[in-house]
Amino acid sequence: MSIQWFPGHMNAARKKAAEAMEKVDLVIEVVDARLPQASCNPMIEQLRNARQRPCLKILNKTDMADPVATQAWINHYNRQKGVTAVALSCKKPSDVVRVPKLALQVAPHRGTVLKPLRMMIMGIPNVGKSTLMNALLKKRVAAVGDEPAVTKTQQRLYLGNNMVLIDTPGMLWPKIEHPSDGLMLAASHAVGSNALIEEEVATFLADLLLQRYPQLLKARYGFQTEGMDGVAVVEGVAAKRGFRLKGGDYDFEKAAHTFLQDYRSGALGRISLETPESRAELLASYQPT
Ligand code: G4P
Repeated sequence: MSIQWFPGHMNAARKKAAEAMEKVDLVIEVVDARLPQASCNPMIEQLRNARQRPCLKILNKTDMADPVATQAWINHYNRQKGVTAVALSCKKPSDVVRVPKLALQVAPHRGTVLKPLRMMIMGIPNVGKSTLMNALLKKRVAAVGDEPAVTKTQQRLYLGNNMVLIDTPGMLWPKIEHPSDGLMLAASHAVGSNALIEEEVATFLADLLLQRYPQLLKARYGFQTEGMDGVAVVEGVAAKRGFRLKGGDYDFEKAAHTFLQDYRSGALGRISLETPESRAELLASYQPT
């Protein structure tokens, strides 16, 4: 199975974003710190480069990501031309207050009465764009929700201090190139999924955590992970939680859902699904079909 998700309004959003890019000085790109590359829309970089716009890249939800992996990503992105990367939790007001100052540092030629700094927040759904915008404006101006594509219309917002913010809808690239990206995005709830997909996503996540964070699985569910595979982990969750079907078999669907919830809520601990190294390995092994 490969996950594809591209609601109709996304096409219109792409067109609008390209138009808006002409009128902004800075792009604030929000990605999910737990999967910064999988949650980074290549279309944004293309649009930005075409107009030579600098980027303040916010690795958001850093409170849920592995700090070591996050630092590696910050170093990685800060080596890229035109990009200034920072790790934040947009839910923390003390983190968000840093954003205007950082934005001015990235685009020092703007931010005066005559030349206000015009900024656009971009990113795929559910990475925290609305949360950031609300925090910047210190009031709720956009719907915040844990369902993809809540933000659908474009708005122009005045931040004070000669800063203007254009909010654009979240976008996801029409084709997810690597199947593992689709699975990481679904695990992190950036793409919608049904129960059938959830079972595959949970198994994928369990396999990944077995490799990278077996101690977190042990701490949460109390089982030894040696010799386990992803399916066994989800079954182990079912066993621990007493999720059984009428005939006595494990309720794999319910266990998969619970396991994903434990990851999404942070109950499993601080986890990053990818690192610059794992990304490089993925790209090196990738055989386009
Ligand atoms: P979007 O506009 O990019 O689509 O994302 P949105 O702001 O709606 O945020 C999606 C979910 O991510 C929300 O969760 C939001 O609270 C959460 N979120 C945003 N920033 C952070 C952060 O820095 N850390 C953490 N842990 N979560 C963050 P939700 O479950 O719908 O809402 P809530 O119950 O958490 O308020």
